[in-house]
Amino acid sequence: AVAGPTADWAACETEGSCEPIAGRARCEPGPAGGGGLNCGFLAMASEKPVVAVTCTAPVNIAVIKYWGKRDEDLVLPINSSLSVTLHQDQLKTTTTAAISKDFTEDRIWLNGREEDVGQPRLQACLREIRRLARKRRSAGDEDPVALGLSYKVHIASVNNFPTAAGLASSAAGYACLAYTLARVYGVESDLSEVARRGSGSACRSLYGGFVEWQMGERADGKDSIARQVAPESHWPELRVLILVVSAEKKLTGSTAGMQTSVETSPLLRFRAEAVVPARMAEMTRCVQERDFPGFAQLTMKDSNQFHATCLDTFPPISYLSDTSRRIMHLVHRFNAHHGQTEVAYTFDAGPNAVVFALRDTVPEFVAAVRHCFPPESNGDKFLKGLPVPPVPLSDELKAALDVDPTPGGIKYIIATQVGPGPQILEDPHAHLLGPDGLPKPAA
Ligand code: DP6
Repeated sequence: AVAGPTADWAACETEGSCEPIAGRARCEPGPAGGGGLNCGFLAMASEKPVVAVTCTAPVNIAVIKYWGKRDEDLVLPINSSLSVTLHQDQLKTTTTAAISKDFTEDRIWLNGREEDVGQPRLQACLREIRRLARKRRSAGDEDPVALGLSYKVHIASVNNFPTAAGLASSAAGYACLAYTLARVYGVESDLSEVARRGSGSACRSLYGGFVEWQMGERADGKDSIARQVAPESHWPELRVLILVVSAEKKLTGSTAGMQTSVETSPLLRFRAEAVVPARMAEMTRCVQERDFPGFAQLTMKDSNQFHATCLDTFPPISYLSDTSRRIMHLVHRFNAHHGQTEVAYTFDAGPNAVVFALRDTVPEFVAAVRHCFPPESNGDKFLKGLPVPPVPLSDELKAALDVDPTPGGIKYIIATQVGPGPQILEDPHAHLLGPDGLPKPAA
């Protein structure tokens, strides 16, 4: 290999003088005048290559909630769920996975800090992806990348949003891990199981648009898979606002919370058996027909039922705060004022609200939020993400909202929309690991 056209990537003198990276059939010509071939390699030395792949994955927000497992080990749910994939321009996880015969152990860095690679869920993902890679190889596929199966892996992952703030970071994180490892090991089969073993909701982040996670019936979980219901282009007017109430770590994690709910809540059992199946069918119809009022009402009802099962859990769990309840009130008043359902809220295992509205409703709703929750000091940074034009709030709506403003109740808003599934980044500068297989210093 000769010095690469970029600092990190090797350029080979002749095609075939190195192993191609997963996803690329062959070496590609390097840039004009640069000489050599770009082969997707990080070069340590020509005889000690590090194969690295970097991918991104989205956050998803469930509109029919997953809450409760029937098998803790395999992460099999007691009901199906349906989610909207959020756009990665605003929220995403980026992960680099690198393999080399010189690595002596598997290692992982999250947001720049090395973490325990022995963590059971991470181990389950690694075991599962290596099993799929072996299966592919024994099926007679001669992909040279499969040779890397015996190599140790280094993984680095970063989020562009606060971890564990109720913004589904584990879903994007494990989906990204599954997707990136699949590219490194040349696995092309369904990745639901790999992502799911990390975090149940992560299997829904493997696709863009509107995604269902079918609970399945089999004891081995082979039919518990995620599937796209509609692509991200299906409903272009749909907007999503994340109202960040608190960026603190939550009190009860989802895993422990749902376990206690399964053990103690009769309402949860009723919900899983008697409510969710019909709601899955109805929500699928609402999405397919772009029926916003139907979609919005069912989204709110399902969020409320999920939080009701939390209160029905013993000892009770509560994820909503006073500000969360004020947001719910605001949404209902806003809708009542307009005489139709124009806005919907949903809350996961935390106090932040995720609000759905059609594009034309967003400016007025944001003005209503500003009225009820006047920004404390960061007036100019209150709204992040997609631009929302400022509009005045009518006196009629102000009166209809009927609230005592709560200054600082909402820290900021992220305006986003429906987005695509995981992506592979071709730009070598995107790698989070350097040629030595260690995290690059943060820029
Ligand atoms: C309230 O997927 O985080 O966000 O499978 O134990 O990792 P584990 O749980 P997790 O639970 C998500 C619960 C939820 C609802 C949802 O996303 O469907």
